[in-house]
Amino acid sequence: MTGKIYIIGIGPGASEYLTKKAIDTVKASDYTVGSTRAIELFDDVQNKIAFNVKELLDKLEEGVGLACNGNAVSILSTGDPGFSGVLNTVLRISAEKGFPKESIEVIPGISSLQLAAARCHIQWDSANVMTFHGRENIEEILPVINNGKTTIALPSRKVKDMAQFLIDNGVDENREVTVCERLSYPDERIVDANLKEIAQSEFTYMCIMVIK
Ligand SMILES: C[S@@+](CC[C@H](N)C(=O)[O-])C[C@H]1O[C@@H](n2cnc3c(N)ncnc32)[C@H](O)[C@@H]1O
Repeated sequence: MTGKIYIIGIGPGASEYLTKKAIDTVKASDYTVGSTRAIELFDDVQNKIAFNVKELLDKLEEGVGLACNGNAVSILSTGDPGFSGVLNTVLRISAEKGFPKESIEVIPGISSLQLAAARCHIQWDSANVMTFHGRENIEEILPVINNGKTTIALPSRKVKDMAQFLIDNGVDENREVTVCERLSYPDERIVDANLKEIAQSEFTYMCIMVIK
């Protein structure tokens, strides 16, 4: 008997951004796979399969295996699963294990990208949206960075290094930037500065860069 896989977006981090659909689905699932931080957002979880970054693939394999054996399995992804999230990885593992796509449901969440756009009052359908997470192809930002639109970027390296990379590649060091750090958490920081100042500042890895 085939089970069910729910790939669930949990939003940017604070529980107030969790959807009711996410809460209800986790509650009704036999197993829930997610980072410790993601699982802690839910009060009602039957069997927790928590992971740290290094264990991610093993735990996703375990979750899909449980679904193959007839269980309802929720797999948690920060923000939205379809934006630098686990969606493609879970689809690949499921296909490898012969788990039917019709038994996979994706439940969207509020992406950190959306919250950054909201904080900056940006209509993000008119912005360049770029993710470099897990990739080192940041030179792809160069052809679009001066096209007249705001660029919302999920950095692949330290924010200060990304800013320095842009300056080194000819972007005006006075260009306005907003760094949205730890969005939705009590210590959220929204920093407005220019590229040069950002290149001299320290941020955690949990940031979205908005280059205006
Ligand atoms: C693996 S990606 C996941 C993105 C996620 N799927 C989303 O839609 O927001 C993780 C990166 O997203 C960004 N991110 C996630 N949550 C964030 C938050 N609360 N505040 C700022 N950036 C965040 C950071 O750049 C972090 O390194």
